[in-house]
Amino acid sequence: MSQAGSNRSIPTTMDVLGRSPGASAPESGYEKVVILPKMREDDLAAHAWADARFAADILAEHALFFALLMPPELAAKERAEALRFQTTFGQLYERIDSAGPPARSDVKTFTAQMTEPIKEFIDYKARLGEAQTTGALRSLVWPLFFDHTRHEAERWGRRFDDLGRGESGFERKEVVAFWTNIMDEHSRFVAHLLDPDEFELIEKALSTAHVFRHLADDSVGGTVKALAQEPGTVIDSLTSNPDIDAVMSAAQTILDFKTQAVRDIEAGRIKSIIEPRLADHVRREALKFLNELKRAE
Ligand SMILES: [Fe+2]
Ligand SMILES: [Fe+2]
Repeated sequence: MSQAGSNRSIPTTMDVLGRSPGASAPESGYEKVVILPKMREDDLAAHAWADARFAADILAEHALFFALLMPPELAAKERAEALRFQTTFGQLYERIDSAGPPARSDVKTFTAQMTEPIKEFIDYKARLGEAQTTGALRSLVWPLFFDHTRHEAERWGRRFDDLGRGESGFERKEVVAFWTNIMDEHSRFVAHLLDPDEFELIEKALSTAHVFRHLADDSVGGTVKALAQEPGTVIDSLTSNPDIDAVMSAAQTILDFKTQAVRDIEAGRIKSIIEPRLADHVRREALKFLNELKRAE
């Protein structure tokens, strides 16, 4: 049930999702495959396990990214704290991954184990975000990166509360509002981590951010604005087929963009300071967005 190299079996309720359609093994040392319940699967324990497994790894990576952006000369204490969170969530991930889905009657206890570590990490992100904003902390982590990762942790907290109450479904309005904002911010992160010589890609990333800001309210007006301002940028298929779901189309397009970007970063075809693990992280979040959107239909 873990990454490549493991011979443990994947639960039959799950799909293994790689970077290419149909691929279930990682194509590089930086890729992590995503394991999610099959599209028609609504078993609560399957959702609780897959989301806890996904989130524990994502949160461990947030801690890793903080540590990478906190040189000991600038933020030794904060870096050590980040590494402790990486260990906490890394161990949680290992435990969840190897144990497999809980029994239906244990879902409440299972999701409850996420609550406290997530709460502590939210506090850390809030505290350091504030310190970075005021200049009390001079790490290389932007204030928006602290806020962004805090919002993700807060949403995971709400998700595990829902699952603990027996609710595994996704509500489209919530999925669109949350993830379009996350995709907007990812695009702006990418724009600002690219080599300043990558003119075209920087512009493309910023255009993509605009589109997701307009799509946030999931209205016809938002779609029209997104199209009018950035025709063809990320929603090419929309212009030829106006009946297609604009948000779905944009989600698929940004997933394709990030998949290509991580490959180009790994191969050195894009000049940037984007760590390949960060590039794969935002790709997996785009995949999760698209997957939730399909379930919320
Ligand atoms: Fe994240
Ligand atoms: Fe993110």
